[in-house]
Amino acid sequence: DVAEKGGYPDFMLKEIHEQPRVIRDTLAGRLSAGALEIDELDLSPEELDLIDRVYVIACGTSYHAGLIAKNLIEAWARIPCEVEVASEFRYRNPIITPTTLVVAVSQSGETADTLAAIRDARVKGAKVFGITNVVGSPVARESDGVIYTKANKEIAVASTKSFLGQVVSLTLLAMLLAQAKGKLKTSQVRLLFRELADTAEQVERILADDAAIQEAALACKDASSALFIGRGMGAAVSYEGALKLKEISYLHAEAYAAGEMKHGPIALVDEGFPVIAIATKSPVYDKVVSNLQEAKARGAMVVAVATEGDEDIRAHADHVIYIPKVRDAFSAITASVPLQLFARAIAVARGCDVDQPRNLAKSVTVE
Ligand code: G6P
Repeated sequence: DVAEKGGYPDFMLKEIHEQPRVIRDTLAGRLSAGALEIDELDLSPEELDLIDRVYVIACGTSYHAGLIAKNLIEAWARIPCEVEVASEFRYRNPIITPTTLVVAVSQSGETADTLAAIRDARVKGAKVFGITNVVGSPVARESDGVIYTKANKEIAVASTKSFLGQVVSLTLLAMLLAQAKGKLKTSQVRLLFRELADTAEQVERILADDAAIQEAALACKDASSALFIGRGMGAAVSYEGALKLKEISYLHAEAYAAGEMKHGPIALVDEGFPVIAIATKSPVYDKVVSNLQEAKARGAMVVAVATEGDEDIRAHADHVIYIPKVRDAFSAITASVPLQLFARAIAVARGCDVDQPRNLAKSVTVE
């Protein structure tokens, strides 16, 4: 058991630490002669260029990877993109035409609702790409094309390295669509690809020093509820941070787009209430800081995930977790990692079984 865990106390921590490798492996061989290549998708640049609507369909953590992808697909490729949980998508009547691309994201490749959504979308004439971690899985077999997330087997029920592999794969897909639509020049694709590859090293740096994360976790471990907030990429990251925390520590957590705080969640905030904010440098940084101030003024215990070098944030937060500076498009990759460690540290402090949380299954093959 100890050998299987590679010297780590649990699989989750081992898998969190594998993430730099997952980033590198997912990107390996993807850039050739300056252009992005994803041959497995088996669609010509001309066919890709015709795509005029994208749905990302998934469940759980994979759905959160989709929320991140939406930002990139719309920003870079300028294609309208909706993200939907598979159990909703399959029971409504979404607008699907032959130029619709459905991207099904599933770590296990066998989630019942996601599979049903794939089948339904194909019957209605959509092209379906699968993003999965399991070679030859039903999602891979039933999609028109597949990108494998090179995470290798994930054992902890709470997904970490698979999630990061999904985010990186979806980032590649967004770049590919933008390239096919002529919205990103070859030189821009090359630059983005290089910066994306650099996130492997940045994640390594985050993993090398978790002191601030541990300290913040100890301060929050006895809370009965916590609120995660962010905007843009930070909103998507917040949803995943809250999910990770509730999955493994049984501490109630909710995530909100920070601008929504005043429409309800701020009523929860009183003395010592944990508010975890993604406050990295981005076009909406000032807006997030003003939300932090609102929370702080009501006594919240603020934990901020912030960009290295941002000393000003200390005035608005009780605990600051610094992460390396990256372009906003890649901030979900770096900002997610401290939240994984934060959730795990709280679960450990609360005496929970980190790898096998109660009531949850690694893959959900029934509806
Ligand atoms: C289960 C797992 C989650 C996962 C979700 C979707 O609930 O516990 O970690 O995110 O299923 O699974 P999939 O394999 O489709 O990504």
